[in-house]
Amino acid sequence: MTESRPDTRDAGTATEPAIRVLFSREQITARVREMGLEVARDLGSVTPVYVGVLKGACMFQCDLARATPLDVTLDFLSVSSYGNGTTSSGSVRMISDLRGEVTGRHVVLCEGVVDSGLTLSFILEHLRSRGAASVRVATLLDKVPCRKIQVPVDYAGWRIGDEFVVGYGMDAAERYRNLPYVGVLEES
Ligand code: PRP
Repeated sequence: MTESRPDTRDAGTATEPAIRVLFSREQITARVREMGLEVARDLGSVTPVYVGVLKGACMFQCDLARATPLDVTLDFLSVSSYGNGTTSSGSVRMISDLRGEVTGRHVVLCEGVVDSGLTLSFILEHLRSRGAASVRVATLLDKVPCRKIQVPVDYAGWRIGDEFVVGYGMDAAERYRNLPYVGVLEES
């Protein structure tokens, strides 16, 4: 599969890796639309807060919010992972917390990808400690085989294997986040 719009970022050169398209812009648009309707159906008439985990979830969070036919508010947090710990508390720390209160709110936690689950586990604990009435987890990609800790995922765009994905918010050393599709860097 190739991206329809010519894009020098996915061509590959002697020094630049090629990017194999995993999910095209069109596939993402269609899937996120379905997910937005599904979330709205499950939430009924509440006004949820969509909490995006920066930076990887930025595109997904915004598109999911636009695809949800409800009043939705937005908030963001940023965490940092380090080390190879197997417990969330030892390997993830808060960089930037929510700006608003989530006490009594119904939260839809938006992630670009759930991998080991450590980031998500840490954030879920944090949201519960802040008194969220409910937390649902929506992720564009779910790397199920990579889990180190069990975490609930309520809505997943796609389940994938252990692949290093870029694009649509996700990066390799901060590059490729603005690609309109999700791809895998090819070995040269
Ligand atoms: C990625 C991704 C998730 C996290 C998942 O973020 O966006 O937040 O890793 O990994 P885990 O399940 O193994 O904890 P990253 O740390 O790459 O930061 P970024 O979102 O700013 O790119």
